[in-house]
Formats: sequence, C-alpha cells, structure tokens
Amino acid sequence: MPDRPPKRGAVIVTGASRGIGAAVAVELETRGFGVWSLSRSGEAPAGRALRCDVTDEQALRDAFAAIASEGPIEALVSNAGVHASAPSRKLATAEYERVMALNATAVMTGAREVHPHLVRAGGGTIVNMGSFFDRMAVPYNLAYCASKAAVGAMTRCLAAEWATDRIRVINVAPGYVETALNRDFLAREDMRRYMESRVPLKRAGRPEEVARLVAALLSEDIPYLTGETIYVDASHAIAH
Ligand SMILES: NC(=O)c1ccc[n+]([C@@H]2O[C@H](COP(=O)([O-])OP(=O)(O)OC[C@H]3O[C@@H](n4cnc5c(N)ncnc54)[C@H](OP(=O)(O)O)[C@@H]3O)[C@@H](O)[C@H]2O)c1
Repeated sequence: MPDRPPKRGAVIVTGASRGIGAAVAVELETRGFGVWSLSRSGEAPAGRALRCDVTDEQALRDAFAAIASEGPIEALVSNAGVHASAPSRKLATAEYERVMALNATAVMTGAREVHPHLVRAGGGTIVNMGSFFDRMAVPYNLAYCASKAAVGAMTRCLAAEWATDRIRVINVAPGYVETALNRDFLAREDMRRYMESRVPLKRAGRPEEVARLVAALLSEDIPYLTGETIYVDASHAIAH
C-alpha cells in the first residue's frame, strides 16, 4: 500500500452507501483519509455518514459547509449515479432529465460548490465517476451514455479552468462492475457469454478495483495529471 503524502483534509464521497462508492470510501479510510460518505439514505460502511441528496443544490451546499466547519476539504469524489434504459423512441423527457440531473448536473454543482473549499485548502482533487459507455454505441441507453459523455466533457473544462487554482479534475470511467444491483443481470446466460467474448479479462470488474484507482489518484501527488478520462474496463471498449 503506498504511503499517503502528508495531506490536509477531508475527502467527500457521494453515493457511498453501497456499490462502487462504498468500496471507494472503505479503501480511502483504510489508507488513512478522513472520509465523509454522502447518500440519500445516510448509510455508510466507512467514513462519517451524511444524508444528502446531491441533486438538491441547497442540501449539497449545507453538507459541504458542515464538513468544512470541522476542517479543510481536500477532495470530492462525485460518484452518485443512476442507470436507466429505454427505447429512445419512447424515452420520456422526464426520465431523460432524471438521469441527467444526477449523473451530469449534480457533477457540475458538486464541483462548483466544492471549489471555494478546495481553494481555501490551497488546492485539491475532484474525481468524477464516468463510464466506458461515454464512448460506446449502446441501444436503449441514450440518457445514460449522454450523461457520462457530459461528465468527460465537464472534467476537461474544469481541469483547464481550475489548474491555476491547483485543482485537478479526473474522470474515472469503469466498465461493467459487479454490484448488488446488477449481479443478477450479469449472471444471465446471455450476459455471461457476452462478457466472455467481449471483455479481454472475461469477467466484470470489482468495486475494489475501481476504488484502488480512485485511492491511487488521491494518494499520489501528480499535478500534471488532470482533465483525463481513465478507463478501468479491462480494455472492453477498445478490444477488437
Ligand atoms: N456498476 C457498474 O457497472 C458501473 C459501471 C460504470 C460506471 N458506474 C458508475 O459508478 C457510479 C456508482 O455506481 P454503482 O453501480 O455503485 O451504483 P449503486 O450501487 O446503485 O449505488 C449508487 C449510490 O448512489 C447513491 N445515490 C443515488 N441517488 C443519489 C442522490 N440523489 N444523492 C445522493 N446519493 C445518491 C445511492 O445511495 P442512496 O440510495 O442511499 O442515495 C448509492 O450509494 C455511478 O455513477 C455509475 O454510473 C457503474
């Protein structure tokens, strides 16, 4: 386990009550980070739990202010997200907007609202949770794919804008990762065959693998690494 460089403050992980976010919170806590776990339920397997719907701008502001009242904030991991699928010719505008509100807009508001806290701390890191779907052609996934492409675009723009504030912004884009929610889906015979034929490693990713990447990005001091989308998909999206 790499040594953690001397650091200053808290790391906020959104959507940390389960799945990938929970694994990120556990990994960061194991490495000695001061973790705050945000979710609507307020449950948290690691870190200090805070109930917060990240699509509610005022709730987000209040949560960040409460955390900052206890000490500086050094990083935000914008992980909370939702998946939805529908045939595009029947995709309701409200459903499209529901996906965009959490997966894209809340990534923007989270970054905007944490910015003054990171500046006050002398800089910091924002890790956004994207998806390898951001560059794939996926039937019935228009809203999800659009939202994750937006995350990549926002990551690049913010990185360019806030580099002189010493704020790095990085987009971590996982492939299929087995969590409680998609375990049954991934266990389906057609999905097992698909994964074996399309994923060079012939299996889904594990939340801990994504968590280790996020923790490595926060543990290592690499100011020149910013604006990038890092795929953690065993080459699924680029394999022939
Ligand atoms: N699993 C995959 O295969 C996969 C692949 C690529 C990318 N991703 C991305 O990775 C991230 C996590 O995915 P996951 O599979 O771990 O999802 P998950 O198991 O469904 O967990 C989602 C988390 O987000 C929280 N959440 C949902 N709505 C929220 C809101 N409005 N405000 C605050 N928290 C909210 C949930 O907690 P509460 O319900 O308590 O609020 C939960 O902690 C997402 O951005 C997803 O798009 C996942």
